[in-house]
Amino acid sequence: EYKWFFEYHLPIPPVKDKTLTYTKDSTGEVIDYYQIDLKSFKKQIYPTLAATDLVGYDGITPGPTFVMPRGREAVVRFTNKGPTNMSVHVHGQYNRAPFDGWAGDYALPGQYKDYYYPNTQSARTLWYHDHTEFRTGENAYLGQEGFYLITDSEEEALELPKGNYDVPLVLGSKIYNSDGSLRYDTNDNVGLWGDIIEVNGQPWPFLNVEPRKYRLRLLNGAVSRVFSLSFEKDLGRDTLNFDIIASDGGLFPSVHTESITLSMGERYEVIVDFSPFVGTNITMRNSGRMGENVDYAATDIVMRFVVGQSVSDNSSNGPVPSSLRDVPPVPRDAAVKDFTFSRVGDEWLINGIGFADVEHRILTRPPRGATEIWTIRNGGGGGTHPVHIHLVEFQVLSRTGGRNTVFEYESAGLKDVVWLAAGETVQVVARYAPWDGVYMFHCHNLVHEDHDMLVAFNVTQLAN
Ligand code: C2O
Ligand code: CU
Repeated sequence: EYKWFFEYHLPIPPVKDKTLTYTKDSTGEVIDYYQIDLKSFKKQIYPTLAATDLVGYDGITPGPTFVMPRGREAVVRFTNKGPTNMSVHVHGQYNRAPFDGWAGDYALPGQYKDYYYPNTQSARTLWYHDHTEFRTGENAYLGQEGFYLITDSEEEALELPKGNYDVPLVLGSKIYNSDGSLRYDTNDNVGLWGDIIEVNGQPWPFLNVEPRKYRLRLLNGAVSRVFSLSFEKDLGRDTLNFDIIASDGGLFPSVHTESITLSMGERYEVIVDFSPFVGTNITMRNSGRMGENVDYAATDIVMRFVVGQSVSDNSSNGPVPSSLRDVPPVPRDAAVKDFTFSRVGDEWLINGIGFADVEHRILTRPPRGATEIWTIRNGGGGGTHPVHIHLVEFQVLSRTGGRNTVFEYESAGLKDVVWLAAGETVQVVARYAPWDGVYMFHCHNLVHEDHDMLVAFNVTQLAN
């Protein structure tokens, strides 16, 4: 089977332009309005095979990047010109419930939906992707994912690398048929690990970089593959140190490290300094070992950074500030609730319930504003589960039964996905706010999510 490394440029998705800006006469406040079309398209992935059929936002994958300044509301009209149902979720934003991409609230082909986004959270790397019931995995796999960045003035003041030195990287893992088409083969609904590693939709790409600091926004957008990443000067030797400066919930006091693990849906931002490596190659490696298989021999390679000779712009290239933003402590005088993720027969369920169980799928009702500790257990039956809770950001309090530690970078900031490996129990604490309504929580192994590891909680209004 044909594989190739570092022959093609890393694609960088374009920034989405707004269509227009409304001004409210009464207050002078503004709302930005965007339009985006979900469309089928073809992309030449294998140089020697037929172009691959994909479906993506504005007919590209990753979709265009939204860059939203904090404090500016937006309405985005998503029009479904694709072949299947569409529900769009901005992962990590506290959307009001009707605009959160509820799995059963999909637009049919030919329909559109206007999504309202508050954009009031602090600067952070979010992403948007399909969330249609029972086919989120296949839709995301075919290309329905993109970045959604919130920016703010505090972040701006930190002088982090910007422009070309601020690079979004969504990791994927795919399987292709011999005719060049994508194969969505979910291994009896256990997972799709894939043998072709992609970054921004391109297998094993390279990026020309200057010998200076870069901000890399890492997102694991794969269906089932967990990545453990490092940067190497010579393959197998000379691992670089780098700084992790942000996770799902935005910036935090930086953590110096030489490797980082991302399960599906997680984001981490890192600062990598290429200045000592003029004229050399730095390779991003993966030591994650999910779904062992002889076909996966090349999944330990992700992409390459080709370091040039000179720096064209030295601004925002200073030392990484050690304290970027303080994470406020979450109160811990909280109700404790238990959720067990396990395989039961052919289904993946949470406390024995799945999304298809319409009567019972709302598992809990936190009062609005309540702080709750959720104890999340891997109940077995095989598999590991990146657990994603909509609406909230949580702090990871503990991890037992497996590696028994919370990585420093997992607890340094607030998160919306936490990885539950085999045998593990994790505790997370969050405040169930700011809105009322029914929200989903689920496994972000999209094959599990679709079969049927997706349930809901209902944030209820306080009596007074
Ligand atoms: Cu990234 Cu409920 O999803
Ligand atoms: Cu799972």
